[in-house]
Amino acid sequence: MTTTSSPAQPVVPDLWHHYGRVRADSDRTVPGAFHWVWAQASGPGVEVLGDLTGLVVADLGAGAARHAAHLVAHHAPARVDAIDASPAQHAMACDLYGHLAPRLRTVRADATAHLDAHPDEYDVLYSVFGSLDFTDPRRLLPAAARALRPGGLLAASTLGHYLDGAPAEPDVRHADVPARVPDGTPASMRRWVLQETVWTKLLDEAGFTRISIDRLSPSEPSERAADTLLIRAYRQP
Ligand SMILES: C[S@@+](CC[C@H](N)C(=O)[O-])C[C@H]1O[C@@H](n2cnc3c(N)ncnc32)[C@H](O)[C@@H]1O
Repeated sequence: MTTTSSPAQPVVPDLWHHYGRVRADSDRTVPGAFHWVWAQASGPGVEVLGDLTGLVVADLGAGAARHAAHLVAHHAPARVDAIDASPAQHAMACDLYGHLAPRLRTVRADATAHLDAHPDEYDVLYSVFGSLDFTDPRRLLPAAARALRPGGLLAASTLGHYLDGAPAEPDVRHADVPARVPDGTPASMRRWVLQETVWTKLLDEAGFTRISIDRLSPSEPSERAADTLLIRAYRQP
């Protein structure tokens, strides 16, 4: 299996230790579809990324790499790098989808650091409620623009409002949201929930062009329903 990890990772509690763990115990399949929206059950799919044949792609904050596995199994990219900083998520991705190497490459790294180290490497970068939500966009977005080849696509889904219904931020400001360390002790982590105009300005300043943001509302009411912002932007050619 092709697996890389950054040396000398700082010892910090893994706040993503519990995420997706129950599902991983029972569902080892490669998903048959790619969803962007919060509910992961409807809405636009893989067509948002265009024809991936022969392209070099990375998933920023890939978690267990289910989206990346789908792309490798069904859409003929040259390679998909499933990047995640969490040791637990990286281990889960290796366990579930190691058999898809070398076209699926699991990378344990902070997304910004990885992108900084790989200028002009990728044709397509995407994030499904991944790094883009949990990393200062003033650092991540310029790094993403540099890591894309000229004309390359960044596509990402992120929350259109907080999960308690509070509106997204009108400025570049994070919130501290609840999390848990591996032993279950409550903790918090940073999450950026920003209005469309704020994302647009950040993307523009980072060197992106042809920026579009669609607000996708849940198709059915549910307790966990939330609006998704689907962001698309291209590195300037
Ligand atoms: C809500 S999960 C989403 C995972 C996956 N995209 C999915 O849809 O199942 C967020 C993931 O982003 C990862 N993440 C957050 N910030 C990151 C960063 N700066 N670099 C790499 N991974 C990051 C976390 O470790 C976590 O696995």
